[in-house]
Amino acid sequence: MNSRRRFLQQVSLTAGAFSASSLFNQLHAASIDSANQRVMGFTNEAIAADEDYWSVIQQAFTVNPNIINLNNGGVSPSPKVVQEAVERYNKLSNEGPSYYMWRILDQGREPLRHKLALLGGCDAEEIAINRNATEALNTVIFGMDLKAGDEVIGTKQDYPNMIQAWKQRALRDGIQYTQISFDFPIENDDNIVAAYEKAITPKTKVIHVTHIINWVGQIMPVQKIARMAHAHGIEVVCDSAHAFGLLDYKIPDLECDYLGTSLHKFLSAPIGSGMMYIRKEKIEKIWPLLCNGQPRSADIRKFETLGTRSFPIEQGIGEALNFHNAIGAKRKQERIHYLKKYWASKVKEVPGVRIHTSLKPEYSCAICGVSVDGLTPAELDGKLFEKYKIHTVSIVWENISCVRITPHVYTTLNDLDVLVNAITTIATAKK
Ligand SMILES: Cc1ncc(COP(=O)(O)O)c(C=O)c1O
Repeated sequence: MNSRRRFLQQVSLTAGAFSASSLFNQLHAASIDSANQRVMGFTNEAIAADEDYWSVIQQAFTVNPNIINLNNGGVSPSPKVVQEAVERYNKLSNEGPSYYMWRILDQGREPLRHKLALLGGCDAEEIAINRNATEALNTVIFGMDLKAGDEVIGTKQDYPNMIQAWKQRALRDGIQYTQISFDFPIENDDNIVAAYEKAITPKTKVIHVTHIINWVGQIMPVQKIARMAHAHGIEVVCDSAHAFGLLDYKIPDLECDYLGTSLHKFLSAPIGSGMMYIRKEKIEKIWPLLCNGQPRSADIRKFETLGTRSFPIEQGIGEALNFHNAIGAKRKQERIHYLKKYWASKVKEVPGVRIHTSLKPEYSCAICGVSVDGLTPAELDGKLFEKYKIHTVSIVWENISCVRITPHVYTTLNDLDVLVNAITTIATAKK
């Protein structure tokens, strides 16, 4: 092939990162489209339980059939189409990194910002693309103008990286960081809002809320907390790491001021991708964590001066969005909740088994904690893997002690039947 033709072909393939001719369209659009056509007119509830529909989705993944991965809350696998996009962009980058990364792939960032904003229901000028929720939220936490004595309220059940960031601000700047504590599950929003409100003092400037508590999956009433906080003149930072790409919500509906999320969790974007949202009028006052020449600019792009980063990973996000949109946010949320309820409602009745999470869709979705009397979380996690090759994670954090189970769209009912049988057998043997 002559070099000009080859170049043009590469550029048009590359354009897949930000055009309709994406790998998703080449590989999956037709099969998902025909599955979508078949279920047209079905109720959401019926689709959530339609195994033929979900088998089309399951086939898009390349997960190892010899283990049952039920720790998708940690990080999720990407569908094949996303993996292939990353590989393709990586190969291209290595044909001439500074040319292909900085002149070709870089052109994909603005269309990607728009696509993410569309899913988030916000303005593209409020979205910065980065590497993970930790980076997004640390940018906000360290970027705020807080002085000694100003107070921040969080919880003992927030994510450690954010707790540590606030603690570092307390050490360095003398802010007061107050952590309240919850006993989950809680099926009453008003009690949650009241607990935050009770901790407010005249010096409180910020409330930090974790949208879905990673340890046990409790969905927090972010909008209600934000309304209460704003009524007191307090800003709200939302850690939406587990919620974006899982719950069907639009960011402005949360009414928070700042939000950070990973995209490599439920959106199944390439591992090492994240996003930050800052309400437009607040961008100017937040200092970037990694500095650029215009730290007081009102342009959200000031947060994207990350140095050399992975363009293949970033551009792969576009394919994950195509895949997510083809299923649809609501349908995905309902299926994953269905899977959680499927296994948890069966083991809940087994003597010696405890469920640590609400099974109601308003209070939890994918994540559910389980324990067996007489076993530590590490022992239960070990038994599940040793004999059944079920991969989970044991949780011992503050007042929480359980094994966390997190299915995803590719999880089969057969996998969950193995889980139910395993927990039942282990609990019965312990009696
Ligand atoms: C609630 C919560 N916030 C933030 C993070 C950090 O995500 P990342 O490692 O992608 O930065 C996690 C990771 O599991 C999390 O559970």
